[in-house]
Amino acid sequence: MTDRKISLEELSQHQEAEDAWMAINSVVWNVTGFAGIHPGGPDIILEYIGRDGSDQYNSVHSSGLAARNFETSQRIGVLDAPTKSNTDADRDNRNPKLDRELPGLDEIINLHDLEDAAEKSLNERSWAYLSGATDGSITKNRNCSIFEEVYLRPRVARPVGSADTRVKILGDEYDVPIFNAPASLMMLAHPDAEIALAKGLAASGSTIVIPTLASYSTDEIVEALPKGHPFFFQLYTSPDKSVLDKIIDTVVRLQPRAIFVTVDLPDFGKREANERYERKVAKQKKDSSKTKQKSNQARSAGVAIDSDLSWSKIQWLRERTNLPIFVKGIQCAEDALQAWKIGCQGIYISNHGGRAADTAQPTLLTLAEIRLRYPELLEQMDVFIDGGVRRGTDVLKAICLGAKGVCLGRPFFYALMYGQDGVQYAMQILKDELVTAMKLCGVARLSEAHPGLLNTRALLNQVDYGTEFRSKL
Ligand code: HEM
Ligand SMILES: Cc1cc2nc3c(=O)[nH]c(=O)nc-3n(C[C@H](O)[C@H](O)[C@H](O)COP(=O)(O)O)c2cc1C
Repeated sequence: MTDRKISLEELSQHQEAEDAWMAINSVVWNVTGFAGIHPGGPDIILEYIGRDGSDQYNSVHSSGLAARNFETSQRIGVLDAPTKSNTDADRDNRNPKLDRELPGLDEIINLHDLEDAAEKSLNERSWAYLSGATDGSITKNRNCSIFEEVYLRPRVARPVGSADTRVKILGDEYDVPIFNAPASLMMLAHPDAEIALAKGLAASGSTIVIPTLASYSTDEIVEALPKGHPFFFQLYTSPDKSVLDKIIDTVVRLQPRAIFVTVDLPDFGKREANERYERKVAKQKKDSSKTKQKSNQARSAGVAIDSDLSWSKIQWLRERTNLPIFVKGIQCAEDALQAWKIGCQGIYISNHGGRAADTAQPTLLTLAEIRLRYPELLEQMDVFIDGGVRRGTDVLKAICLGAKGVCLGRPFFYALMYGQDGVQYAMQILKDELVTAMKLCGVARLSEAHPGLLNTRALLNQVDYGTEFRSKL
């Protein structure tokens, strides 16, 4: 069937919420009803109905996302005249999100250098979104600083000619215990987004945790991995049953090793950097309606994320998918216990990198709390952790306290500014640092790591544990 040709004039006649068309990379779609379920919020869709939304769409989405998400019956036709577009085929290799030239990778020797490069080079919008956190960023900063307050207690005169960083999780062996923390809108760092991330992580002997709110579709990301390579999927449970069913059907078809269901964001925190940026842009556009609103992110969250998620829904998810479920966003020992009670295979300790409740305790402290109060859980479930991990020594400390997988969020965004090369480069830095830390502490393989290699006074002073547990750490 050949596509019907549609003029810009005909397109402009469909700009009502109940009769809405939009052109995306020359294809005209019927997007009636889509504004209400767009995970990026309704405003952007309503602004572009009856028009060509290609530039806005391409700034955060892969060209294939629309065709994979809309039904073929929604495809009305194609524009009769080409309009300026920025599809994968047209774009050059430069990263359009950068305001300034990036320093060469040879100038980067640790992950802090990558962050500095990002602050100097990314455009203002991307930097505000990626680096930001809730309110005063107390939790974001404490996630990092607590790693510095836990000291190593190296053991000496042990044979450490080589250090084995391999780890087995759910039956699969990875070269390193290091993974990405799933994060939305990675295209804000690089046009290849999760595709480059998946390839870079797989080439580094690790794998990707695919986010629900990715820039590319889940199918496209899985296709980027070597055939049969294991991967994980992070799930936001949508409040819309049909949207959730569609996501789950895709996930069950693609068979990740586990689903990490995110539970720590039933409402959006006040992302102050985002709000400042949006208000500034609104002022420049003289759009007074936006200067008083919560950020676009916050307004769109309710569309994509179910604020009524319950433990019974997580249990239902386990039955519906028949896949191992990990609960992402565990912030205290009681919830770790609850996850185990309902049959989860694992927990993922996280406070969303300080983007959920500000002043929530840092994640390393949560891990110590679980170890003190319910140490048996660390044997019965696999534990992932993220938040503030920036060094190989941080990875080792988390493993000493019982984590199996250690994840990093923002650093992979910053690495992605360099595409797949950057991801592999960051992984190599972390692996080298981990190997060195292991050798300097007398640890030949990760299974030898234990809490006795740490001075945990800084944790003991803060863990909420009750006196009877004091002797265990
Ligand atoms: C085809 C189906 C679509 C899907 C599955 C989809 C999905 C998403 C997702 C997951 C986000 C990120 C939400 C977040 O983390 O904040 C997002 C944001 C966004 N989407 Fe879409 N989208 C679609 C169509 C469109 C279209 C047609 C446009 C064209 C105008 C568009 C423009 C945007 C923009 C500009 C943002 C960023 C909003 C912000 O500033 O936070 N999207 N979308
Ligand atoms: C820009 C950004 C977007 C994020 N998006 C998601 C998401 O879509 N789903 C999710 O479960 N966590 C998301 N997170 C939280 C991360 O998975 C992770 O918990 C956090 O980034 C870890 O902290 P770190 O950045 O200090 O490493 C996001 C974090 C950032 C910084």
